[in-house]
Amino acid sequence: MQYPHIPVLVEEVLKYLAPVQEGILVDGTVGSGGHSEAICEKLGSKGRLICLDRDPEAVRLSKKRLALTGKQVSVIKASYAELDNVLKDLGIKKVHGVLLDLGTSSYQIEGSGRGFSFGRDEPLDMRMDPEDLLTAGHIVNTMSARDLEMILKEYGEERRAKSISRAIVRARKIRPIETSLQLASLIKSSFPPSRYKTKHPATLSFQALRIAVNKELENIEIFLDMIPSLIAEGGRLVVLSYHSLEDRLVKRAMSSWEKVCTCPPDFPTCVCGRDPLFKCLTRRALKPSQEEIELNPRARSAKLRAAERIQS
Ligand SMILES: C[S@@+](CC[C@H](N)C(=O)[O-])C[C@H]1O[C@@H](n2cnc3c(N)ncnc32)[C@H](O)[C@@H]1O
Repeated sequence: MQYPHIPVLVEEVLKYLAPVQEGILVDGTVGSGGHSEAICEKLGSKGRLICLDRDPEAVRLSKKRLALTGKQVSVIKASYAELDNVLKDLGIKKVHGVLLDLGTSSYQIEGSGRGFSFGRDEPLDMRMDPEDLLTAGHIVNTMSARDLEMILKEYGEERRAKSISRAIVRARKIRPIETSLQLASLIKSSFPPSRYKTKHPATLSFQALRIAVNKELENIEIFLDMIPSLIAEGGRLVVLSYHSLEDRLVKRAMSSWEKVCTCPPDFPTCVCGRDPLFKCLTRRALKPSQEEIELNPRARSAKLRAAERIQS
C-alpha cells in the first residue's frame, strides 16, 4: 500500500535512536507510521514500540500499517505532552528511546480536508485533534487585530503581521472568513507583488495559525520538561523539527541538560542543581541531503537533534 507521508532522515533516526532489541521505544508523533515501521524492523521480539498521535486518522492509519510488522506495538490517541500519563497507565517507568517528528504529515496537508494548506479550498479548521475546541476559523473571525498580529508575529515571524491582521479584520466585517483559499487570497492581497517571489505570501501566516490552534510550542515545552525523568540511562531522544521556533526549543533544552555542575570542587554535594542529564549527540543539527530533498521536497527544512541520557 502507498502511504501518503514519506518519512524524513530515516537512516539517521535509526542510527541515533539506536533501537535496542529488547527495549521500549516511543514514537510520539506516529503519523502514517513510516518511522515506526522502520523502527519495528530493528526491534527484537521482546522489544516494544509505543506510538502516539493526536490525530485520530493518523492513529487509524498507522495501527493498520504497524500491525503487519508482527512486533509488539501499541498505537494510542494522545498528545506527546501527556507521555508521562500514557506510560503510567501502561505501567512503564522508563523507556529506552523517544522520537518526535514535529510538524504536519502529508496526509493532513493533502487529505484531511481541514484547511492546513493555502492551496486548497477547505474549511479553516487546522485542528490536529478534531476534539479540540479552538479552530483557525475561530481565531481569524473573532480575535482582535492586536491579538492576531501577535500570533502572526510570534508563531510565524511574519514581518507584515500588522497589515495582514488589519486586512483580516476589515474583510471579516463584510463576510466571515470561512475557507483556507479565502484567507490565502486575502493575505496575498495585503502584500506588494514584488515581496513574494520565492514563497506564497500566506506561508508564515498559515504556520502561525496552525501553531496557535494546536498549541504546538507549549506542547513541545511540556514534553521537553518531562523527558529527563522518562528516559532510562543510555536511552536516546531524537527530535526532527521543521522551523526555527521548534528547533530553538529543542536546542535550548538539549544544551541546558548538558550543563555541567558549577559548584566549587571542594563542595561535598552539588548545590547548583546543574548535574548534566544528557550528552548531546549532534553538535550541529543534521539536515537531509540534496538527494533526499529532491525526492521529498517536504524534507528541505528538517533538522535532527539527538541526545543520550547519562547517569545523573
Ligand atoms: C510529520 S508528522 C509525523 C510523520 C511520521 N513520522 C511518519 O513517518 O509518518 C507529525 C505528526 O505529529 C502529530 N502531532 C502533532 N502534534 C502532536 C502532539 N502534541 N502529540 C502527538 N502527535 C502530534 C500530527 O498529527 C502528525 O501526524
